[in-house]
Amino acid sequence: MNLLIDNIGELVTNVAGTGEGGPLGIRRKAALLVEDGQVAWLGPARYAPAADRRIDAGGAAVLPGFVDSHAHLVFAGDRAAEFNARMAGERYTGGGIRTTVAATRAADDNTLRGTVGRLRAEALRQGTTTIEIKSGYGLSVVDEARSLRIAAEFTTETTFLGAHVVPAEYADRPDDYVGLVCGPMLRAALPYAKWIDVFCERGAFDADHARAILTVGQAAGLGVRVHANQLGPGPGVRLGVELGAASVDHCTHLDDADIEALASTVTTWVSEPESSTTVATLLPGAEFSTRSPYPDARRLLDAGVTVALATDCNPGSSYTSSMPFCVALAVREMRMTPAEAVWAATAGGARALRRDDIGVLRPGARADLSILDAPSYLHLAYRPGVPLISQVLHNGVPACQP
Ligand code: NIG
Ligand code: FE
Repeated sequence: MNLLIDNIGELVTNVAGTGEGGPLGIRRKAALLVEDGQVAWLGPARYAPAADRRIDAGGAAVLPGFVDSHAHLVFAGDRAAEFNARMAGERYTGGGIRTTVAATRAADDNTLRGTVGRLRAEALRQGTTTIEIKSGYGLSVVDEARSLRIAAEFTTETTFLGAHVVPAEYADRPDDYVGLVCGPMLRAALPYAKWIDVFCERGAFDADHARAILTVGQAAGLGVRVHANQLGPGPGVRLGVELGAASVDHCTHLDDADIEALASTVTTWVSEPESSTTVATLLPGAEFSTRSPYPDARRLLDAGVTVALATDCNPGSSYTSSMPFCVALAVREMRMTPAEAVWAATAGGARALRRDDIGVLRPGARADLSILDAPSYLHLAYRPGVPLISQVLHNGVPACQP
């Protein structure tokens, strides 16, 4: 069974140089053939091959599925009251993480699974076809392992974040907690984790602790990602670059040396899985929800840094699963053009996960895409808050239909 998407007004491929729009590789009046979960062919609609099934896009825009490379979906409870207090003037410090840890530990597996499933489905309806899911609200050997086991039921992009904060029971002996993370907790996480992450920030883990944890995780075969420079300037971004991290995330408070370090990692993308580029992943939902100043993406882009956008979906600092919302915020608040933001939310996310089979539409890539209820990708920023994702194909299979 193959499937032809015909009558595409604007096809965003993210294959640079093959059409209009530079990196977006836009083709007009196009068609795209899907077979065995992959893109089998794409080209001018007038040359479209015959197919078993056909979707008429009606002149609408089609783009690669969003790649949300940063999300914390395994948790229980919510923190709406904390959000409400922030909107009345309280500052975000990350202190509420421990509230979610207590609720998560008390929840049974099915409750956690239900939350991940609900948020995963919510994201898919908004065009997210790949999502990274972190642990980090268990913070015990048993609860981190089960968080990752449940995450792995929903994605292959699982991240061990045992070093999210030091849990209350280790508050006066953080070195012991780092020892636990590097030893028994890492061993329990390994069967389910692809990546390791640390919240490197004042009040969470300093550079020495973060380096120790990330290095031991890397030696065990995990890829590195870092929560860096979110609440203030700090060593996280440069540590990530030093360790060859796939991504440093947040990047809200950067100095020139941080930006130079990131720019120095940019390589030609011959093979993305072998890349040594460290992507700067920006999470504007967190600035929105914590009422914090947004990072200036323009500074990064003008320096040549590879930028990704992700939701940071979590109950504390950014309770949104919506990549279109993040695209709109990035354009309005972070000085990205709509083209840069859409690229960052698709191809950028793929690079942050060192994947070359997603975030792009070319023969052989995964048939992960959205059909918009709009003639152009521009509308994602131009019409914020409007449900523009009309159909989603995930692995070539229609996932959400009106
Ligand atoms: O990425 N910064 C650390 N972790 C999350 C927030 C977690 C929470 O507040 O529950 C983040 O923003
Ligand atoms: Fe996060």
